[in-house]
Amino acid sequence: MSSPHSVIAIDGTAASGKSTFSRALAGRLHYTYVNTGAMYRGITWHLQSKNIPLTDSAAIEREISAAGVETALHNGELAFRIAGIDPLPHVREAKVNEGVSLVAQVASVRKLLVAQQQRLAEQASLVMEGRDIGTVVFPQTPYKFYIDADAAVRARRRNAQGETDVIQQRDAHDSQRKESPLAKKQTAHGENSGT
Ligand code: C5P
Repeated sequence: MSSPHSVIAIDGTAASGKSTFSRALAGRLHYTYVNTGAMYRGITWHLQSKNIPLTDSAAIEREISAAGVETALHNGELAFRIAGIDPLPHVREAKVNEGVSLVAQVASVRKLLVAQQQRLAEQASLVMEGRDIGTVVFPQTPYKFYIDADAAVRARRRNAQGETDVIQQRDAHDSQRKESPLAKKQTAHGENSGT
C-alpha cells in the first residue's frame, strides 16, 4: 500500500457483531470507521425505490452509472450519496435486508464500490468492515479479522435490534456467489485469520 495510512479489515457473517466491534476499535484507535455493508445497502435501497429488478445486472449497471455514486469521509464519518441523496437513513429496512445480497453479487457494483473504498484509505487510517475487505479491497493489510457467531446467537441479536433479517439466506448467498465471496482466508502472514 502506498498510502501512509493503515487499514484494519473486519470481515464476517451477518449480525455477528462486526459493526459493534469495528466502531469500538475505531474509537479506541482514533481511526475512521467505514461500514461497507451500508454502501451495498444504500445502492439496494436506491434501486428498489426506482423499481429496478435486482436480478437485472444490466439495468443495475445502467442505473448506478446514470445516478452517480459518491463516497467520501466527512467529519470522520462515511458520507455516501446516490443521485445526490443520502440513502443511509433507509438502509436497515426489511426489504433492503432481503435484496442486498442480490445486488452485492453484481460485478459492476462491486467494481465501483471497491475502487471507492480503496480511495478512502488515501485520506485516513480506517477500520473497514464488510465481506471482502481482507481478501479483495485491502489484501495486503497485515491487520485482518474474521468474525462469526452461532446462527442462533446472531438471530437473537437481530431480534433484539428490532429488525427482520434473512441472516442465513444472506450468508449462503454471500459465501456462494462468484464475485468476491465471503470466505475466511489466510492472513498477509500466511496464518489463518482469527475469529
Ligand atoms: O454488513 P451488512 O450485513 O450490513 O452487509 C449487507 C450485505 O452487503 C451483505 O449481506 C453482503 O451481501 C453485502 N456486502 C458485500 N461486501 C461487503 C459488505 C457487504 O457483499 N464488503
